[in-house]
This record gives sequence, C-alpha cells and structure tokens, in this order.
Amino acid sequence: MSTHDHGHDRPQGDVALRGAGGTVGAAGVPARFEDPGLEPHRPRRSDLDPKAAKRAERQTVVLFGVSILGTIVFLAGYFLLPLGSSEAILRSNLALGLGLAFALLGIGTAAVHWAKSLMSDHEVVDERHPVQSSPEVREIAVKALQDGVADANVGRRGVLKGALAGSLALFPLTIAVPLIGELGEDWDVSKFKHTWWKAGTRLATDPDARPIKASDVTIGSVVHVIPEDLEEAEHVLDEKAKAIVLLIRLDERDLKPLPGREGWAYQGIVAYSKVCTHVGCPVALYEQQTHHLLCPCHQSTFDVSEGAKVVFGPAKRPLPQLPIEVDSEGYLVAQSDFTEPVGPSFWERLK
Ligand code: FES
Repeated sequence: MSTHDHGHDRPQGDVALRGAGGTVGAAGVPARFEDPGLEPHRPRRSDLDPKAAKRAERQTVVLFGVSILGTIVFLAGYFLLPLGSSEAILRSNLALGLGLAFALLGIGTAAVHWAKSLMSDHEVVDERHPVQSSPEVREIAVKALQDGVADANVGRRGVLKGALAGSLALFPLTIAVPLIGELGEDWDVSKFKHTWWKAGTRLATDPDARPIKASDVTIGSVVHVIPEDLEEAEHVLDEKAKAIVLLIRLDERDLKPLPGREGWAYQGIVAYSKVCTHVGCPVALYEQQTHHLLCPCHQSTFDVSEGAKVVFGPAKRPLPQLPIEVDSEGYLVAQSDFTEPVGPSFWERLK
C-alpha cells in the first residue's frame, strides 16, 4: 500500500555510533546497514516561484527543440548528402551520428529536467506486497498512474505538450526512414551476386590501383588486389568490399584444380574472394606450408590448393574463385566476374 512520506514518518531512533572502531549502531546492527533517515523535505524553487517554474518550462521546451533539430539534421544527412566518395560517406556518417545523438540527448535531458523541476515533488514509499496484486491494489495503481498524468500538468502546459509531441513524433523517423529506404526499390539482392570484376579487368594493388604482372607474384606471396578501374564505381567502398581478392602463388605442382576450373589459374597463381563465406569477415592469414587460409573471426580454414574448400570451422562453402589469365602485356586480368555470390552463404539462397 502506498503512503505519502515527506520525511517525517521514518523512524529516527537508531542513530549510528560512528568514529574510530565505533561502527555499531544502537540496536547492535553494523552502522553501514542502518537507515540514516531522510533529510527534511525541501521544496524546489519552481514549487515556490512561478517565474522559476516558467523558466524551467522554457528550458524543457528548448531541450525538446534540440531533439527536433537533431532529427532534422539526421534526415538531411540521409536524404541530401551525396555518397560518391569516401569523404562524402564520412560527412554523411558524421551528420547521421550527430543528428541521432542530439535527437536522443534532447529528449532524454528534457524528460529529466521536466521530471526534476516541474512534476510533483512528493516522495512516495511503496510498501512491499505479494507479487500477485489484489484487484484493490491494481485499482490503486491505475489511480496512481492517473494522478501522475495529472501531476505532469500536461493539460495546462500547451507549449510543452506540443514540444513533447513534436519530438516524440519525429524521432521514430531516425529509425524508420533508413529501414524503409533500404526496403524500397533500391533493395535489389542481385547486387550481391555481381562484383566489379569483368572479363579483361586488370588485377591491381590496393589501394594505389597499380596493375600487377604475373612475374611480380612470387611463390608463397599473398597480395590483396582490387579491379584496376574500381575508382569509376559510383559507390567505391561498397564495390571494393565485394570485389576484394587475395592473389596467391603456389608451386604449380601443388595445385589440384576442381573439375571445370582447369584454366582458372595462371602458372600457379590463384585468386579467391577475401570475404569469408561464414559471416563475411576478411580472410587474412595464409600458411604457406599447408596452403591454408584462415579467417580470424571464427577460425574457418580454406585450402587454396584445392578450390579453397573448407577444411575446418563454421563456413559452409569454399571461397569463390576468380578465374584469371594474362593479357598481351603480361598483366593479370579477370576472365569474368565471380561465378557465384561472394560473402556469407545465405546470399546464394536469395533470388
Ligand atoms: S566470418 Fe570467417 S569464420 Fe566466421
């Protein structure tokens, strides 16, 4: 059962005896467990001075306004900022991050300020009761809720109510707009099936896009490569994430090409997607003696001498292989795009 307590109802009798070694209270209970009692209730300035209450209301409105501005910045960052280059993506992410931060911060600080300065200042003690509430208790709870709504003075503070409604109505857009935007016409799963590689595209070093000759790749070496013309892509970083490849040279006698892939390597040089088929981490560690490639995230291990088949770990399929050859000047080039989706296996199952 609830009772209103203004600091006068608590027992004040058992005062702790503090001091050197004096940690035992009057009732023989260690002092740290004793109830220190409540300070006498002190009314807030906004309870005594209508001007202070008005000022607190204005401050709360300003904080809700900050939230509204944050949401507008977020939406502007999402819709208006182009994403053509890495600097533009950084700018957009900055606008999205700052907008979201101020949108949340504004609502949070406004709610706290409102509660601390304008809502009822009554201290309430809720006695423990059985978990199963009786109908009477539930009735009391509903009544307390209604009292709380009345205490918040929403009905009388029109501007505050409008500011709260505005910030709460706009804030969900920061979540809904990106979700809906991604599910719109642009949501095309086929983009996971194709990468920037095309027949004749030269393999180039990352990040300086310098074409690589077969003679540059020594046995045992591993080179990260990207398509030479990747800079022409509209979304360079997205395309790079899909097209990144590991180029590895083995002794030709160690290679065991899969049926139908006999012409996909050049003099022992093989190219495999760097994106792990488990959940997409970059495969990184190459063990020259065993020809094993290891993904550091969950230890999936692929054998590059045998079609990058999985020899250990949670990955369910080999790393996709990029068929390569050399052009008339001796540069390594792709024979085509990958023949299967790169990355986690579930992309295969999407139409
Ligand atoms: S992402 Fe590579 S093993 Fe999990």
